Amino acid sequence: MPLKGWQQDGDHSVAVVWSTVARTPPAARQRLADINIGTRFVATQESPVHENIKNAIVSATERDTRLIMRGLRNTERVLTNRAVEQVLEKEAELGSAVSFQDIPSLVTGVYARVMRRGEVDAGPWSCGMVVGLVNDVPSVRDLINRIMQQAEEIISHRFCGFLPTAEE
Ligand SMILES: Cc1cc2nc3c(=O)[nH]c(=O)nc-3n(C[C@H](O)[C@H](O)[C@H](O)COP(=O)(O)O)c2cc1C
Repeated sequence: MPLKGWQQDGDHSVAVVWSTVARTPPAARQRLADINIGTRFVATQESPVHENIKNAIVSATERDTRLIMRGLRNTERVLTNRAVEQVLEKEAELGSAVSFQDIPSLVTGVYARVMRRGEVDAGPWSCGMVVGLVNDVPSVRDLINRIMQQAEEIISHRFCGFLPTAEE
């Protein structure tokens, strides 16, 4: 699956991935791996967030995320930091009695400070467990090419087991 035409149109490669998925037989499709993409793209050269955030993502391991606001039925997975620990302490302290009024100063209005100003501890910010696999800050172009190459490897190695053999 070479990325012909990638220079002109970044969406093209995504379209190639999806059209490949769409053409995959249903039995094989059930075995398709999901792709973790949100957190990964935050740590790219073009991502308009502060360098501190990209560095925090690169430095983190898969053990560095926490789930907050579970008791509020508003669960968010975030990268742990001082503010997150404060939220968790508050939630543990209040138990099932916790309400949104108990934590607003800790969780609202923090994204601009975190993402734009690079104040990584200003509040909780979303981050997938895939953060443990993010070890660099490539350009989007290089990242997409890498994803496509890995997808091609998965399709050609894992899916070849679905092809009928000569005896079938
Ligand atoms: C910067 C950022 C902002 C996010 N904002 C939201 C949001 O507003 N609502 C939501 O349901 N999930 C949000 N998410 C969570 C993602 O939808 C996704 O569940 C999470 O990142 C895990 O997927 P991933 O491994 O592909 O990153 C956000 C994630 C990131 C990294």
